[in-house]
Amino acid sequence: MKTTAALDRISPSATLAMTTRVNELKAQGVDVIGLGAGEPDFDTPEYVQEAAIAAIRGGQTRYTNVDGTNALKEAIRAKFSRDNGLDYAINQISVNVGGKHTLFNALVATVQAGDEVIIPAPYWVSYPDIVQFAGGTPVFIAAGADQHYKIIPAQLDAAITPNTKWLILNSPSNPTGAAYSAAELKALGEVLERHPQVWIMADDMYEHIVYDGFEFATIAQVCPSLYERTLTVNGCSKAYSMTGWRIGFAGGAPWLIKAMAKLQSQSTSNPCSIAQAAAVAALNGDQSFLAGRNEAFRGRRDLVVSMLNQINGMTCPRPEGAFYVYPEFSGLIGKTTPKGQRIDTDEQMIGYFLDEAKVAAVHGAAFGLSPAMRISYATSEELLREACERIQTACAALR
Ligand SMILES: Cc1ncc(COP(=O)(O)O)c(C=O)c1O
Repeated sequence: MKTTAALDRISPSATLAMTTRVNELKAQGVDVIGLGAGEPDFDTPEYVQEAAIAAIRGGQTRYTNVDGTNALKEAIRAKFSRDNGLDYAINQISVNVGGKHTLFNALVATVQAGDEVIIPAPYWVSYPDIVQFAGGTPVFIAAGADQHYKIIPAQLDAAITPNTKWLILNSPSNPTGAAYSAAELKALGEVLERHPQVWIMADDMYEHIVYDGFEFATIAQVCPSLYERTLTVNGCSKAYSMTGWRIGFAGGAPWLIKAMAKLQSQSTSNPCSIAQAAAVAALNGDQSFLAGRNEAFRGRRDLVVSMLNQINGMTCPRPEGAFYVYPEFSGLIGKTTPKGQRIDTDEQMIGYFLDEAKVAAVHGAAFGLSPAMRISYATSEELLREACERIQTACAALR
């Protein structure tokens, strides 16, 4: 038996592969600092844990509606209205097994051979693979550190063709942390208004993780004329430290929500009933703990940005949100390690950091923009300081 052509078009997730590698090294007793994982190091808030335990004890352990309980859909409606000024009816809400599943359902339900999906680069690793799995063609727009990792309207206009089906807009971004202001979204929206065939997938997973008074905005809110053709995607994983619970959701056009439910009904069925009950508590509960967590993240961001910028040949922009930085290091390419290996790519650089500095990050090529790396700072300041010192020492040893 052979695997299918659709499967052969995709690769395993580079970020998950790095996490597996770090775990293997740790199991061998190697003192490696993992900065590769894309999840908060905080625990799920206690009030959410309690809601899950109550759900188990209360018998919420059976199948639910395929794409989410009414209680959770109501909590999501209230969240979209409260946080984003977006009104969705109950038949405009879909609940899925994590945000990745939300995106997968939407893309696989709508994209086929000949369709183009515009993906700004650097991008979250899964977008191109899901598009390719569906049979579509990813079209990349490069947005480097010089433009703060954000696309500009002229670039978007130039990338759109009659075959463009979707634009995926992720803000704040994984892997760069860059976030679009309301004005920047409005300017992109003006381009999209001229191209009615293009739908917009707003991936707002990091909405609640923003710093220095940055005001999060999402495109359907800023450009009401695009509401009908925007799928606004969000989830519980990052804001509520619920990566393992697997709850993602979206608001959008009723026909699309129905199509996603059809696909889900023949694959996963409903997301875990207990996780759904926990998500109701997370979304309806007191949100004030978010500010304290952001304060901790902001301190870590500032530490990492300043230590990486001390390295000759490396430039690390200071992002508006998420818990990643994306330093570029074109100034170090072509140098040689103490063992005599020439560093020509960011993948070789990440290999050098792992072997010699015992620090794990993910190479920029996995996110479509090189030479660079993604560092996740969702770990303690103590470990971050140690990791950045090791990277500084390793870079200083290059000749
Ligand atoms: C930008 C972005 N979108 C979606 C997801 C998917 O999140 P989940 O863990 O809920 O599937 C992630 C997770 O890393 C992400 O970074």
